[in-house]
Amino acid sequence: MAQTISYSKDVYPLIKTKCLKCHEQDDENPNSFSMDNYVLTRTSGKTKNMILPGDGANSYLILKLMPIPPKGAQMPMFSKKKLREDEIGLIRKWIDQGAKDN
Ligand code: HEC
Repeated sequence: MAQTISYSKDVYPLIKTKCLKCHEQDDENPNSFSMDNYVLTRTSGKTKNMILPGDGANSYLILKLMPIPPKGAQMPMFSKKKLREDEIGLIRKWIDQGAKDN
């Protein structure tokens, strides 16, 4: 059976180290996308296709991790340490598996 990706064990730790600095709900960064927890990750942000459960490849969250995203800069912004392919793969798989609160 394929490996099940866990939000709390696999996805959140990555977000915490690479994204939360700029994507916490209470900071003053010029974006409205907060990833402090599962609910915010699923509901905040300006973009409708942010997370498409079952379709990681077309989810805006994944597209923003690519070298040339549809809009704006590659995330994490200003960082020389972009996510590795296997790290992006983990987040994509989590979305492919339904983006569950697991
Ligand atoms: C140094 C600050 C910084 C870091 C670190 C950062 N971001 Fe961002 N992010 C921004 C800013 C500023 C914007 C708004 C501009 C844009 O969309 O390009 C943004 C926008 C986004 C958007 C689009 C939000 C929307 O509502 O359309 C997504 C998705 C995103 N970031 C994901 C991430 C992920 C995932 C990480 C971690 C891997 C990350 N960001 C790390 C600053 C950051």
